[in-house]
Amino acid sequence: MPVDPDEAAEFLELTYAEDAAGPDAEPLAQRMSVVLDEIAATGTYRHTGEELAFGARAAWRNSARCIGRLYWRTLQVRDRRHLTAPGDVAAECVEHLRDATRGGRIRSSITVFAPDVPERPGPRIHNEQLIRYAGHRLPDGSVRGDPRTADFTDLVGRLGWKRPEQRGRFDVLPLLVSGPDGRPSLHELPDDAVLEVPLTHPDHPWFAEMRLRWHAVPAISNMPLVVGGVRYPAAPFNGWYLNTEIGARNLADADRYDLLPAVAARLGLDTSSVRTMWRDRALVELTLAVQHSFDEAGVTMADHHTESDRFLAHLAKEEKAGRSCPADWTWIVPPLSGGLTSVFHRYYDDPRPDERPAFLPPAEDVLDKAALDDADFGEPMADPG
Ligand code: ARG
Repeated sequence: MPVDPDEAAEFLELTYAEDAAGPDAEPLAQRMSVVLDEIAATGTYRHTGEELAFGARAAWRNSARCIGRLYWRTLQVRDRRHLTAPGDVAAECVEHLRDATRGGRIRSSITVFAPDVPERPGPRIHNEQLIRYAGHRLPDGSVRGDPRTADFTDLVGRLGWKRPEQRGRFDVLPLLVSGPDGRPSLHELPDDAVLEVPLTHPDHPWFAEMRLRWHAVPAISNMPLVVGGVRYPAAPFNGWYLNTEIGARNLADADRYDLLPAVAARLGLDTSSVRTMWRDRALVELTLAVQHSFDEAGVTMADHHTESDRFLAHLAKEEKAGRSCPADWTWIVPPLSGGLTSVFHRYYDDPRPDERPAFLPPAEDVLDKAALDDADFGEPMADPG
């Protein structure tokens, strides 16, 4: 699909209005005519490095579900638009993780790969995040690991992923990347690109015996970035974790690691009725363990109290700049102690689905049957017996 010239024009106007075109940029009128000519001739156009960086930062600023937007200007933009081959994309994802992790001093970063252009789609990363743990289906129907990735784990298994000998609860999945021809390929992440934090509790030594861990960097990899009408299907971006994402959701949700019963048992809580609030009490201790462990390991992690205040500071700043800051209350309010946080006690402007620049919801997975049948991954793994 050719780029809509109106979207391009609107983006250029925004970029210049916010003084983000860079010191060496040509005047708006001139840039506008270059871009519109380029679209008329080729169906697309090429962003300058400054435009790309501003577009990516503005897409973050527009993300109505994100509580961490105060830092939108600090996003590190890694321009890798020349890359389309899956092997190159995977290698740069690994570099992205190393750069962004910095031994624990996590830096918000995005790597932008080749855009979709008429007649040639850009590459795609099929994982929802660069780092996710496998969900191995067991013969009894249960899942070992993260149930959220069970289908994806099945898929990469069929494609020939060599699962660890001993299937664990925290096995890092390989990247599944396809290039313009749609052929997918698998790429393991090297150990040194995946920083993990073993979980301990400040008061309960037994907590370490549960042998829990989580990865340091959340890096969303399946949301296309759209800037000025140009779509970048592979543009993985990361921030740092908020304690509750891991402690009160990933490890606690009944359809994820479902650890509240185990934590409550160790705490010796009476689990005979919801009215003893054993789940609430276990949830606090689990999230505390997550926060404590990341802090001890020197890995950047936000806490829900501070981040709530910062979000309101961001909101005030945006208002002062004359911008509205749409936000989704159900995502902004933390899943633990909601009413104790400042973000709970107010409403927000409604998110606008047509807001641009934006990170779009994940596209339907285009890994079509033909591509899968075509793919050459060597011997598929036998079904787990
Ligand atoms: N909630 C997701 C997870 O637990 C990560 C989403 C992005 N989070 C962030 N702090 N940037 O993996």
